[in-house]
Amino acid sequence: MFDPKVIVALDYNSADEALSFVSKVSPEICRLKVGNELFTAAGPQFVGKLCEKGFKVFLDLKFHDIPNTVSKACEAAAKQGVWLVNVHALGGAVMMSKAAQTLAKYQSRPKLIAVTVLTSMDREQLGGVGLDVEPAEQVKRLAKLACDCGLDGVVSSAREVAMIKDLCGKNFWCVTPGIRPADSALGDQKRVMTPSQAISEGSDYLVIGRPITQSADPVAALNKINEEINALI
Ligand code: C5P
Repeated sequence: MFDPKVIVALDYNSADEALSFVSKVSPEICRLKVGNELFTAAGPQFVGKLCEKGFKVFLDLKFHDIPNTVSKACEAAAKQGVWLVNVHALGGAVMMSKAAQTLAKYQSRPKLIAVTVLTSMDREQLGGVGLDVEPAEQVKRLAKLACDCGLDGVVSSAREVAMIKDLCGKNFWCVTPGIRPADSALGDQKRVMTPSQAISEGSDYLVIGRPITQSADPVAALNKINEEINALI
C-alpha cells in the first residue's frame, strides 16, 4: 500500500516498548503518531529514529504558547523531518498564521493541523474555562479559523468531517481518532466509528491506538483494518 490511511498511536511509555511494535511494521502499511507521553519519555532522538526508518511521523504535541515559541517549535519539528505536526487552535489566529508561514519556508514541510475542542471537554467543562458555547459550535468556529490561517486541516471526530469539509473545503484534512473496528473494545472512547465508516465520511487519516497496539497480534489487526479500508478506495 502506497498511501496508508492508518496512523498508529504509539501510546507506550518507553522507547523500547514502542520500538518492539515498530520493528514489526513498515512505512508501507502505517504511519506513526508520537504523543506527549512517549515524547516526554523518549525524546526527539526517538522521533528522528522513526523518520530515518522511513515512517511518516505525526508529532502530536498540540503546541499552545505565544506565536514565537510555537513557530520555533514547529520549525524544530520540520528540521527533524516529521510529516505532520499540530497546535491548539485556541492559541489564536496570530499563533496559527505565524506557524503556517514559518513552515511554508521549508521545501518539504510538515503538514500543520489544529486541535479544535478536546473530546474530553463537554458543555460544562467549556463553561468552566469561560467559554459559554456548545462544543459543536466551538469546533466549527475553530476549524474555520484554522482554515483561514492557512493550516492544512484539523483533528476531529469522524462525525464532524462532513460539516468541516463543507465549511473549509474538501482539501482541508480531517485526521480522526475515536476509531474502533467492529470487533474491538471501546476502551474509554465513547462515540466511535469503524474504519470503513470513517473513510466513507471523508476522513483523510485515521488515528488508531489500542485496537492495534493492545491486540494479541498487532500486525494482523493492522492488516485487517487496511483490508477493510482498501475495499473502499
Ligand atoms: O487507543 P485509541 O485508538 O483510543 O487512541 C487514540 C489516540 O488518539 C490516542 O493517542 C489519543 O490521545 C488520541 N486522540 C483522541 N481523541 C482526540 C484527540 C486525540 O483519542 N480528540
